[in-house]
Amino acid sequence: MNSKPPSLAPANISFFNAHPAPDDCHKVILAGLQAEPKTLDPKWFYDAEGSALFEQITALPEYYPTRTEVSILKAQRDSIAAYCGQGSVFIEPGAGNCAKARLLLDAIKPAAFVPLDISADFLFSAAQEVAAAYSWLSVSALCADFRDFLSFEQHLPAGRRVLFYPGSTIGNLDPQAALNFLEQAVSLIGSDGGVLIGVDLHKATDRLEAAYNDAAGVTARFNRNILRRVNDLVGSDFDPDAFQHHAFYNETLRRIEMHLISAHDQTVHISGHDIDFSAGEHIHTESSYKYTVDGFSDLASSGGLRRVQTWMDDECLFALHYLEPMDR
Ligand SMILES: C[S@@+](CC[C@H](N)C(=O)[O-])C[C@H]1O[C@@H](n2cnc3c(N)ncnc32)[C@H](O)[C@@H]1O
Repeated sequence: MNSKPPSLAPANISFFNAHPAPDDCHKVILAGLQAEPKTLDPKWFYDAEGSALFEQITALPEYYPTRTEVSILKAQRDSIAAYCGQGSVFIEPGAGNCAKARLLLDAIKPAAFVPLDISADFLFSAAQEVAAAYSWLSVSALCADFRDFLSFEQHLPAGRRVLFYPGSTIGNLDPQAALNFLEQAVSLIGSDGGVLIGVDLHKATDRLEAAYNDAAGVTARFNRNILRRVNDLVGSDFDPDAFQHHAFYNETLRRIEMHLISAHDQTVHISGHDIDFSAGEHIHTESSYKYTVDGFSDLASSGGLRRVQTWMDDECLFALHYLEPMDR
């Protein structure tokens, strides 16, 4: 772990790096690839290169979620700020480039901003840009797995807490993990805090599938790039070009599934272990669950949170919810 800020960092920023240790990455990756069906945790998508590819995805014409959520944040900024309140500790798990938080900072004037992400270098450079642009704001960047964010509570500044979780990142968690996340959120924010969360809405299959199968092939590059990242992390010998991108909407489970399909029979080596693939065999790399407003309200209630307000775009593509603990 490393809490030393890079040299030349602005004075109003601190860093804490709790990226999983190489041995832990190795264990988890191997277990996923030895499972049936084979899986990789989507958090491995994100290093500097993966985060940059995701940024490109957000600008694609087919990828409506980012521009829709941004349009809601811009149009409803004052109303959102009234719910979030001023002077809070504003915590953003999966902050990425911090662009969405930056749309709110002037309106909600937090006492501190805590961007948290697994993509260390990308996070640190985005957080430095925030600290430089908002000299009045204290920024505490935290590289960690957001599924364990309660274990990093000691690194949070004191004060009323508002959790900001945009991008429908909650959709990347299966329903049980999403519930665990919301339960942790309740513990973290205490009885006086709030959660501002962006959730992609269930909609027509063709619209959803187009968003994950863009014509320019950026999502395919992003998907295959996880294999390059896994090679870096555990010294495996995946050939990303020997796998094809496949994304479809599973209407029963209401989730986009992203897979990588082995183009032919092949064996991948990871530190003495052989991982055999037959032609056509899949690695499940990501799910993106879609929710109705009521369906998400039910999930939030099960996690101990009450939906207090919802903002949506005119086409009802995307929803931004403000949640408070049930016991307030
Ligand atoms: C779907 S992107 C959303 C980025 C940004 N919040 C937005 O709304 O555009 C998911 C973000 O969460 C981060 N992430 C994914 N899995 C993570 C994990 N397990 N722990 C921490 N960060 C994670 C990624 O690095 C990425 O920045």
